[in-house]
This record gives sequence, structure tokens and C-alpha cells, in this order.
Amino acid sequence: MNICKLTIPGVVAAALQLSSASAQDVSFGNRLFHEKADCQFCHGPDGDGRGDPRSPGRAANLHETTLNRDQLIEVIACGRPGTEMPHFDKYAYEDSNCYGLGGKDLGNDAPHDPHSTPLMRREIEAVADYIIKTFVGK
Ligand code: HEC
Repeated sequence: MNICKLTIPGVVAAALQLSSASAQDVSFGNRLFHEKADCQFCHGPDGDGRGDPRSPGRAANLHETTLNRDQLIEVIACGRPGTEMPHFDKYAYEDSNCYGLGGKDLGNDAPHDPHSTPLMRREIEAVADYIIKTFVGK
């Protein structure tokens, strides 16, 4: 008799928890992009590459990226050698975990530290997921 009363609210509660968890991930990525990591300074608030005129310029339009999730994570962690795209993994290039290269191999082409702050792996993944959900192909 009471089975329905007990299970339906349970299912609803579980569903609510799930949807609020993923909404939280996206808003976490959103905050990282716009505030903590300040990606928008170069990539623009809408990710279209039109950042602050004082930024070092020519940042990619993230709506048009053809990178998959793993490649996005790699670029965010490692930056892009020879460009203004900084590395957000604090330890990038200390060993050879970025494109198989160490900082010494790259010399002046080694990506810079970010002007904002390095990110933890979990944060890099959240910002990659935010880019996929919000910008890519849109
Ligand atoms: C100082 C400016 C600057 C900042 C800050 C910056 N980027 Fe970039 N980013 C660039 C530039 C410039 C490029 C283009 C590099 C090139 O020409 O290959 C780029 C490229 C990228 C790419 C590769 C896109 C593609 O399709 O090749 C991704 C992804 C990316 N940035 C994400 C981010 C994220 C996420 C953040 C914040 C965590 C961030 N960037 C912060 C300047 C910046």
C-alpha cells in the first residue's frame, strides 16, 4: 500500500539531485571561464575569440573548435607552444607530460603561466565540459 508513497518521492529526489549536480558542474565551469581562470579576457565572454582589446589577441573562436574533450583538456592544461595560449596545469613542462616536451625543448616557445591562476585537473575538466556544452558547434 505504501510502496508508491515511499518510492516515487525517492525517485524524484534522486532525479532532482542528478539534474542539480550537472547544472552545478556547468555553472562551476562557467565561473572558471569567466572569473577564476579569466579565459574570457582573451577568448571573450561568449567564447568567440573577441576578448578584451588589451589581451594578447588572436585567441581561438571556441564555437568553431574541432578538438574533442581529451584534446581540449590537453590544450587547457598544456597551452599551445609558440602562441599566447597559457598552460593552466601548474606543472606543465616540468617533466615531459605535455606533447612529450619539456620546457627546455621549447625555449622561448614554451607557453606562459596564466595571468590568472593555474587550475587543478578537476577544474580543467569542468571548463572543458563547459566549453563543449556552451560553445562548440553553437
Ligand atoms: C592570454 C590569452 C589567453 C588566455 C587567458 C586563454 N587563452 Fe585559450 N587561446 C589563446 C590563443 C591566442 C589561442 C590560439 C592558439 C593558436 O593559435 O593555436 C588559444 C587557444 C585555445 C584553445 C584551442 C582551440 C582550438 O580549436 O585550437 C582552447 C580550447 C582554449 N584556448 C581554451 C582556453 C581556456 C579554457 C582558457 C581558460 C582556462 C584559455 N583558453 C585562456 C589565448 C588565451
